[in-house]
Formats: sequence, structure tokens, C-alpha cells
Amino acid sequence: MPALRFPERLARLQTALRRRKLSALLVTQPGNRNYLSGYSALDHGIQESSGVLLVPARGTPYLLTDSRFYLQAAEEARGFTVQLYPHGLIAFLRKLLPQLGIRRLAFESHYMLHATAARLQKTARGLDLELQPVTEMVERLRVVKSEDEIEALRASVRLNEQVFQEVYPAVKPGMTELEVALALETTMRRLGARGPSFETIVAFGPNAAKPHAVPTDRTLAPGEMVLIDMGLVLNGYCSDMTRTFVVGRPTQTFIDRLRVVRRAQLAGMNAIRAGVTCREVDLAARAVIRDAGYGKFFGHALGHGVGLDVHENPLLSSRSRKQLRSGMVVTVEPGIYLPDWGGIRLENMVVVRDHGCELLNNDLTFL
Ligand code: GLY
Ligand code: MN
Ligand code: MN
Repeated sequence: MPALRFPERLARLQTALRRRKLSALLVTQPGNRNYLSGYSALDHGIQESSGVLLVPARGTPYLLTDSRFYLQAAEEARGFTVQLYPHGLIAFLRKLLPQLGIRRLAFESHYMLHATAARLQKTARGLDLELQPVTEMVERLRVVKSEDEIEALRASVRLNEQVFQEVYPAVKPGMTELEVALALETTMRRLGARGPSFETIVAFGPNAAKPHAVPTDRTLAPGEMVLIDMGLVLNGYCSDMTRTFVVGRPTQTFIDRLRVVRRAQLAGMNAIRAGVTCREVDLAARAVIRDAGYGKFFGHALGHGVGLDVHENPLLSSRSRKQLRSGMVVTVEPGIYLPDWGGIRLENMVVVRDHGCELLNNDLTFL
């Protein structure tokens, strides 16, 4: 991303902090850290933080981390004062917060262990500090993508499709799910991706009935369905795509069900434009699957936002009355999953625009 983006993003957050009379936000969610600062280190789980941002309502923001990440933090987070916490984050904050005159500290309650929040609370009681749990202050800024971000997402989708196109002809009966997943992931890296954006899903036959199947040593039989759900990270931005196909001759049942899922996907895409609710889009696709008699076999939401994280807001769910906005990037991924038979999911990514949506995939090369 152009370095110019970061001051603009920070300024928007600082305005929101001042509006809510908060003195600072402690940013713990890795994608949020990255979005605001450019610091791209990941956490290996919520218990293993690679640092936090402390963004005051006014003035210079801080990036607090430990010695393992110091050089990376200093290189990447140019506009931030990088400091180490040799005795841990809480001990460091106990000194820093009073120095900065912070009285109302917000923290990301959706991305902090209860144990850490409890220790922070104990620290706050010893200082004249009020803690304010917040959710989605940064996510709200991230939800609408800039054209630079959309271009980065487009490039990520293109590379992901290139990887699929390269591996797809090599998928043959006798291969295992693990072998196909390995071929996809090594190809991702060979073609320039940082790596997969989530654990690659490869499921043959009945395994495809598990929407988030984990690849096994099951070998592919001729005529069996193959579900591949894959994504990669390129220049920080994620892709996410699912294809379901048969090597050999598909059964008529497979073809019929694939058509249902495809019609549902098209109905979902056709419903997308700025101003419609997530619920309306989900239900447009769900109605196709329900009317074909498979309603109870489509349990998950229709889609989700994608950006620096593979799962972001908005959630295209029948429970969400939030409105889509131009510049959001979402997946459209209906599926039907039948235990003992298998499953079919088709997943593309689209950009929400004022009068419709723009498909980021080039999916006609496949269907
Ligand atoms: N790859 C997980 C998903 O499609 O959301
Ligand atoms: Mn996916
Ligand atoms: Mn997805």
C-alpha cells in the first residue's frame, strides 16, 4: 500500500476516538495493526501476540512489541514510535499510560484474552484510568476498500486462479487429498504468494460434506467429486475461492446439484449492490437452494468480507441487517452438503458497486 494511506487511516481513527471521548485505543487484532501501521507480523494465536498499537486520540502512535519483532516493526511501521516491553505489555503500560495522560483507554474486546483484560483492569484500578471495551472501531474503517486495496485483492484473486489452473489438470484418480493440497500450496509460494490465506481445503467424495474438511490421505476414485477451497496472501491481501468438480464422468445428480449451487451463486451476485442488506443477499441465494429442496443442507452464511484478513466484515448472513456499501469486497459461496454423499460449494469474490457488483474472478474459464 502507498505509505500515504497510513496517516489518513490513523486520522480517521483518531477522529472517531475524539468523538467518543476516548483518550486512546489499544489495537491487538493483527489485521487492524497492519491496516493502521503497515506492521505485518502475525500472531500465532491470541495467546502469542507479536505486539500492540497504542493509538492516542491526538499525537504520535506507539507500536509496543518484544525484541523478536523490533527490526520488522521499525522497518514497517514508519509513522510509529516503536518501543519494547522487556517485562511484558501490562508492566510497560503501567508506566506509559500515565506519562501520556491517558484517562479513558479503549481496548478491542473481541481480540483480547479475558485473562489479559482482567490484568489490565487491575492495573487500571491502581491508576486513574477507565477501561472501555470496544468492538469494530478499526474494522469499521477497513470494511470499505480503497481502489488500491481492490487492485491488491484483484491481483491476489488472479494469482489464486493461476495456481488453480496449474494444478487442476494434474488432479488424477489415485492422488490423495493431502497431495493435492501440497501441490496447491507449493505452487502458491513458487508463483510469489506469501502462503495460503487459510488451510487449504481439499475434499474428495463424501469428505466434501464437511464444509471445512481437513485434507486426508484418502485417494481419489474415478468419477468422485473434488472440492477445493483455496486462498493465498499476495502483498498482504487475501483471496478465497472454491471450485467443485469431477475427474471423469459426473453423475446426473452431481450435475443437477452443481447447477442448483451455481444458480444460487448467480442469484446472490445479482442481488448485490450498495444499499441492500446482507440479509437480502443471503436470502436471494438461499431461496434458490431451498426451492430446489436442499434448504436444510446449506447451513453457513452466503459469504464474508475479504481484505488483509480472509474473514472480515461484512458477513452475508440472514441475521445481518447491515447495508452493503460501494467498495466492500465479499465472497459469494453457497453450498449444499449431504452426509454420506458429499458437498458442492462455489465461491467467488466480488466488489460491491453502486449499481451491482464487479466479479473479481474469471470463473467462466472453469464452468
Ligand atoms: N475458506 C473458508 C471460507 O470459504 O470462508
Ligand atoms: Mn473459501
Ligand atoms: Mn470464504
